[in-house]
Amino acid sequence: MHPLFVFISMIALLRVEMLLSYLMRHLLLLVRRLCCQILDQLEVMVGGPSWTVKLGRRDSTTASHTLAETDLPGPFDPLDRIIPGFANKGPSARDMIALSAIAAIFSLLLLSSMQCHAQISSTFYDLTCPNALNTIRTSVRQAVSAERRMAASLIRLHFHDCFGCDASILLDETPTIVSEKTALPNLGSARGYGIIEDAKRELEKTCPGVVSCADILAVAARDASTLVGGPSWTVKLGRRDSTTASHTLAETDLPGPFDPLDRIISGFANKGLSTRDMVALSGAHSIGQAQCFLFRDRIYSNGTDIDAGFASTRRRQCPQEDQNGNLAPLDLVTPNQLDNNYYKNLIERKGLLQSDQVLLSGGSTDSIVSEYSNSSRTFASDFAAAMIKMGDISPLTGQNGIIRTVCGSIN
Ligand code: HEM
Repeated sequence: MHPLFVFISMIALLRVEMLLSYLMRHLLLLVRRLCCQILDQLEVMVGGPSWTVKLGRRDSTTASHTLAETDLPGPFDPLDRIIPGFANKGPSARDMIALSAIAAIFSLLLLSSMQCHAQISSTFYDLTCPNALNTIRTSVRQAVSAERRMAASLIRLHFHDCFGCDASILLDETPTIVSEKTALPNLGSARGYGIIEDAKRELEKTCPGVVSCADILAVAARDASTLVGGPSWTVKLGRRDSTTASHTLAETDLPGPFDPLDRIISGFANKGLSTRDMVALSGAHSIGQAQCFLFRDRIYSNGTDIDAGFASTRRRQCPQEDQNGNLAPLDLVTPNQLDNNYYKNLIERKGLLQSDQVLLSGGSTDSIVSEYSNSSRTFASDFAAAMIKMGDISPLTGQNGIIRTVCGSIN
């Protein structure tokens, strides 16, 4: 046979094999998802029979420890012991089989559904709500084109939710819920709740009860980043929503603008984020704005860690008294662009918040700041990776939590 013919045949065979393995992988994924969906449905309406319960039992005045040990069947009992065990109490062998089948089905359901939902994955809504990501993107795009700062606010909202990504930040105050919205880092500061609620309303029209508010927050943050020139990443999905809020945790766990570096580092480390993750995530401060009272001390400090010209410019809009809510851009050069300019500002001692400038103050983070200031690529890829890591912080999955119908309240 001609060697060229052999060579071409081999290439063709290789291609067919690759194609088959590709098809098999996708087929298996599809089958698994379908099984999970069927299990979901079964769980909703478990579908067992109903019966009329006879009433009139009264409660004992004693317990029967020994009888419980001798009379209840055990997992290692042989059949000829199980059948008389039931017969002694009345139920026939047929009754016994019927009751056992129900128990087995329930155990199987529980096991299988745990396998389906234990982890978050980017394909989670592929079959249950294929248009989910487009719907969220449309809401975010409309919001950001109406007000560019909203991109910053949405990224921050996901961050503030994500010291436990469960949409607890979205819950309003009720007699039983102390809302996180009124916690110090969020009060009069966190924004974008309405955008998430708008996206949720749209999703409820097409896929009622399917997409969690925690996932909407995660996707909205990614979309916001891309809309202002920042990096994109694949968002893992399948988080579920909390039924409670953690006002106290929001106050103790989120970093503050006056925190020293070691405290910021340990705050992130407590959530499983490295120092490098923290420095990359802080790059989100290359968009958005901060209120005067949060950087006043720094611009009137006459310190050596702030550029004098920058301080004097910022003082114009932020007097020593009053005007607490006056805003200044966190990045003075490209305030609406998610890029590595934030780090360049730090090198020029033009970080707005004290907690920004401490990243370049002779400590362990100096070299990372300098690396990001020199390479927008490294920053972009580290930022994306750290956002994915942040989105993984203690999500509720499987049987935990709920899918809220309205993000601001529990169903
Ligand atoms: C490292 C510790 C951090 C501290 C101490 C901190 C603190 C702050 C403060 C004080 C503000 C201004 C709030 C106001 O004026 O109302 C702010 C704004 C902002 N933060 Fe952070 N932050 C930190 C990390 C992060 C991270 C990890 C992200 C996101 C990944 C983030 C995203 C933002 C954004 C985008 C804004 C502007 C929000 C807007 O304009 O609505 N921050 N941050």
